[in-house]
Amino acid sequence: KARKYTEQYRPAFHFSPDHNWTNDPNGLLYFDGEYHLFYQYNPFGNKWGHMSWGHAVSSDLLRWEHLPVAITEYTDKASGDSTMIFSGSAVADVNNTSGFFSKGGGGMVAIYTSHVHRNNQQLTQHQSVAYSEDRGRTFTRYTDNPVLDKKLKDFRDPKVFWYEPEKKWVMTVVVPDKFKAQFYESKNLKDWKLLSEFGPLGDTAKIWECPDLIEVPLLDNPAKKKWVLLISNSHPQGPTFVGMQYFVGNFDGRKFTPEYPKQYPLYLEYGKDFYAAVTFNNVPKSDGRTILLGWANNWAYGQDIPTEPWRSAMTLPRELYLKNTAYGYRVIQKPVRELAAIRDDSVKYTPPGKVFPGKSFEVNYSYTAGNAAKFGFKIITGENEETIIGYDKSLQEVYIDRTKSGNVSFHSNFPSVDRAPVKLQNGKLKLQVFVDNSIVEVYINDGEQVITDQIFPTSSEYSLQQFAEGGTAEADMRVWKIKSVWLD
Ligand code: FRU
Repeated sequence: KARKYTEQYRPAFHFSPDHNWTNDPNGLLYFDGEYHLFYQYNPFGNKWGHMSWGHAVSSDLLRWEHLPVAITEYTDKASGDSTMIFSGSAVADVNNTSGFFSKGGGGMVAIYTSHVHRNNQQLTQHQSVAYSEDRGRTFTRYTDNPVLDKKLKDFRDPKVFWYEPEKKWVMTVVVPDKFKAQFYESKNLKDWKLLSEFGPLGDTAKIWECPDLIEVPLLDNPAKKKWVLLISNSHPQGPTFVGMQYFVGNFDGRKFTPEYPKQYPLYLEYGKDFYAAVTFNNVPKSDGRTILLGWANNWAYGQDIPTEPWRSAMTLPRELYLKNTAYGYRVIQKPVRELAAIRDDSVKYTPPGKVFPGKSFEVNYSYTAGNAAKFGFKIITGENEETIIGYDKSLQEVYIDRTKSGNVSFHSNFPSVDRAPVKLQNGKLKLQVFVDNSIVEVYINDGEQVITDQIFPTSSEYSLQQFAEGGTAEADMRVWKIKSVWLD
């Protein structure tokens, strides 16, 4: 059960575990009236280790109820080998294709990477399944695991979805150090046959992880969809940091073919705190959305961020669309519309004003005219302490400058300026910014680009101030408090 959270950096409307370490979201699934969020979780500590699947459920993608750990690391008594439950997905096997279920209506099946190690030495990775007859509350590991074993040391992160045209399951999985995604098919979630491989292409500066092959609705005609392959690997600033790229194209049930292969890499985000994002399976057809959720942290410093008793949170859930541009299709991300219900319209604030009531709020900033070289606004959290969200006209970039955002010294990789390429639209710029205590998400021009960055201010009083350098900037700025989704 959720409790009232009072810790210094606890986000109010982003998911974070009650205590201990998390990384990737796993098994995102809508099932029987609930959204499920499983997540890479260390039941024993606030850094990576003993990886298991934590679990939470929600009816609106925002208010999460914590549930007991769903699948845990285990040790084989005979060999002494331990198996961690690495990233993977979950499906609604409503037709009991797996034969795991005795009741009508089937159940839930989790497909994950079994990471086998002895004394913390990695031996192998293969894909395994576990099933649940009680809406994900408890799982039973299949006795004939693994279901897909290529005798590889690195082979992971299966994302399985139902491919309706051929009434079969399709798995996307990566061979990380070969920069390859592979596609497999199955009728029963147990026997898997290789269909094709994709890659290397685009960014190969860092290993490939957490693939997701999805259908994304077109922005101006949501009934039409195209296929997109998401890959977690390297950041646009280079392989010191993790980040995500994507490919747009077609999938014919066997093979993914990217459009305009020369245009890659395309990056999904320009912030430092965005990785391992994947989409929910089984979102009702009547809803039709493709909903993405990512990990709001970075392996380059993530285990040292100054939060306790938990470490790491998830991004806001986001709706994905494809926009047809002069250069080809581009992924657009919008924060889920459910957010409107937790915006506190009674607490509205228009700067300048000194102290904003709280640390969790939404800012709508729209620049209409001016000759300033740089403009935007600052989140001020103390004397000489600020996070800048701005536009640089000469570089044509929106940026978050967190170099003076508070505690930046816990890791040398943390202080940064993170920039996204953005052209003004008829001389205008629109920013929708969510500040949630230690997480800042900036949606630019209706989701054309996104920058997500963590900040760790030393003060608990946040205020806002517009700025313009080298000229003027006319901008409209509105701010709303956002309510906590936990007990408050
Ligand atoms: C990505 C990742 C995955 C792996 C998991 C282990 O962040 O490295 O490839 O399954 O984390 O926790």
